[in-house]
Amino acid sequence: MMAVVKSALKSREKDAETMASGSAARQPAKKTGASDASHHVVIAIDGPAGSGKGTLGRRLADELGFAFLDTGALYRAVAMVMVDMNGNPDYASDIDFAIKTATKYLTPELLQRPELRREDVAAMASKVAAVPAVRDALLDFQREFAATPQDGFGGVILDGRDIGTVVCPDADIKLFVTADAEIRAKRRYAEVRAAGKNKSYDDILADMKERDTRDSTRAIAPTKPAEDAIVVDTSNWGIEETFQNTLAQIRNAMATRAAKTA
Ligand code: DC
Repeated sequence: MMAVVKSALKSREKDAETMASGSAARQPAKKTGASDASHHVVIAIDGPAGSGKGTLGRRLADELGFAFLDTGALYRAVAMVMVDMNGNPDYASDIDFAIKTATKYLTPELLQRPELRREDVAAMASKVAAVPAVRDALLDFQREFAATPQDGFGGVILDGRDIGTVVCPDADIKLFVTADAEIRAKRRYAEVRAAGKNKSYDDILADMKERDTRDSTRAIAPTKPAEDAIVVDTSNWGIEETFQNTLAQIRNAMATRAAKTA
């Protein structure tokens, strides 16, 4: 099992310089936290692809002065090795190799690599994410990140599929961000068009539904809201509205908790 904690990530930054571009998953940026400084706050954000949870999570992290981890990037890192080696996720030896290779280089820089956003990597990520050995191998990394207070940050936000249910069942605040599949596909289509890529809306919707089904019906850690999650349906909301609304809910939850512990 990899020994991966934030400090380990830092010590590997040198290695990463040769293989990575971009900046940290969210390295300490010395922001003034809006949180209760005496408590390391953990916020879990889950939801399906295209729900806007990543954009929301990053914005909330910036606003609150929290560290941020996009856990989907971890699965994408394993998937990228699989794709590069032309591996088959049904073969234990391929999975084993992909886990070992990806976790060896799990640096903040790697998690920012544009290749991780490729469609073939996304499709493979959904497949490797259903393999128990992969989930096991990435669990400690995520928990370690969640549990380790970092200088200058008042807490952490992790975004994924099973953060509130499996990775951080004791998170202080849990959000489940969702939207209708057609709306999510429209958003992705607009992004694809803006990036000058050529993919039809129908193909995007079909891929999205396929991934949704795989992610939410898998036997282990399926995408679903935790029982105590606040469900945020962004179908009829823009980014700003979603941000303001969830920020208000988080501040409210933090104030309630602070009052209880006072
Ligand atoms: O959020 P994303 O599209 O980058 O995630 C890539 C894949 O990883 C997606 O198919 C779901 C999976 N995933 C997961 O199973 N558990 C997580 N905590 C995060 C992502």
